[in-house]
Amino acid sequence: MSLFRINGGKQLHGTVAISGSKNAVLPILAATLLTDEPCILRNVPRIKDVERLLELLASLGVTHEWTSEHDLRVVARDAHLQTLDRKTFASLRGSLLLWGSLVTRFRDVTIPEAGGDIIGNRPIDAHLSALQQLGATIERQDGLYHFSAPNGFVGALVILPEFSVTATEIALMAAVRAKGQTVIKIAAAEPHVQDLALFLQEMGAKIAGAGTHTLTIQGVSQLHGADHTVIPDQIEVGTFAVAAAVTGGDVLITNIVADHVDLVRSKLHQIGVKTELTDHSLHVTASFPLRSFRLQTFPYPGFPTDLQAPFGVLATQCSGTSLIHDPMYEGRLGYVSELIKMGANAIICDPHRVLVTGPTPLHGQEVKSLDIRAGATLLIAGLIADGETIIHDAEVLDRGYEKFEERLRNIGAEITRE
Ligand code: EPU
Repeated sequence: MSLFRINGGKQLHGTVAISGSKNAVLPILAATLLTDEPCILRNVPRIKDVERLLELLASLGVTHEWTSEHDLRVVARDAHLQTLDRKTFASLRGSLLLWGSLVTRFRDVTIPEAGGDIIGNRPIDAHLSALQQLGATIERQDGLYHFSAPNGFVGALVILPEFSVTATEIALMAAVRAKGQTVIKIAAAEPHVQDLALFLQEMGAKIAGAGTHTLTIQGVSQLHGADHTVIPDQIEVGTFAVAAAVTGGDVLITNIVADHVDLVRSKLHQIGVKTELTDHSLHVTASFPLRSFRLQTFPYPGFPTDLQAPFGVLATQCSGTSLIHDPMYEGRLGYVSELIKMGANAIICDPHRVLVTGPTPLHGQEVKSLDIRAGATLLIAGLIADGETIIHDAEVLDRGYEKFEERLRNIGAEITRE
């Protein structure tokens, strides 16, 4: 494993461009299995999770070719199940995303359970029940799932138990080629779910209601290839905005979709961070003192859980006590213990809530990236800590951020990877 070495105390100044969204491109790659024709995907981030899903798809006979740095051509014409890489399947949480398209394509599929970050119990009941409601039978034995839908999926009313992103995406991919009409209620509306729906529409799917909590899908017998540009990653926008704010910097964040970051912007304003929207860019400037805040994560359009941790480090630099409440995951406050080691004044009330009192100076320490978002958060903490911060397991960040340290270096951070 490699590590990041950060020499803190530098303000960030300059321009940083946002990459394509991890959580949009992963289901879109899974959806390429729904057609024999080539799909062109643009603005694809060069991150580890994409690489691993492409490897997994390659083990299924799906070919791909990078036609430029961020453009990809994917062809699933010769897909088959014989050589599926079960080990990668089992180690990747994103492999769940293949359920809907694999069963649509092969109708009888045996696959291992999926892995992923240790951020708490992540139930998959919603995912299983969606496919059952669309007519699949599912058996689980010895860590394997056997899905069977001998005549394909059949359109139905699918009521999800909660606004689950992946369950919605699996249900969508199962419904687009099902016989008849499907209505998905309590659907997730995140920008990445909308982007998947748009890609499926570009492939010929008939979907109404994307971006709302009710999706109506008229099944079609075939889908065709499509040319799609992946949306920018709104989590990156918030992450770089926080990095600019805590260093008292001045950063122009380009390649954004303004609609996707409304709530994050209004939270930043409430805290005292100035943001100015120009054409597809966000200009972030900050001067202290910053105000403490209360934050609760919600499904979209609420505040994203994936930005809860960066706002935790922001809270250490605000005057007063901030309350952060993440009801969605019970393992996502692990970064707080690492921040406390660095000097943060924080009390973890329970697995979902933390009180952070600031402003407190942070001090360089050796800390560990527990998951993608915790890793990015500690890196931001290292930017404002005095002395040297070492972050172990740097690879965890490569799963979700393209050249993160290089992009921070370009705007003034002193950071190396060893
Ligand atoms: N949850 C609630 N209430 C809700 C909806 C969800 O408590 O209304 C809980 C669930 O029970 C679960 C957690 O929230 O424990 C996440 O739920 P979901 O099923 O939506 O998560 P997911 O589909 O497994 C995706 C992203 C995650 C992101 C979540 C939430 C992908 C590949 N993953 O996960 O991304 O945190 O949605 O937005 O899209 C990350 O990028 O670091 C990451 C973990």
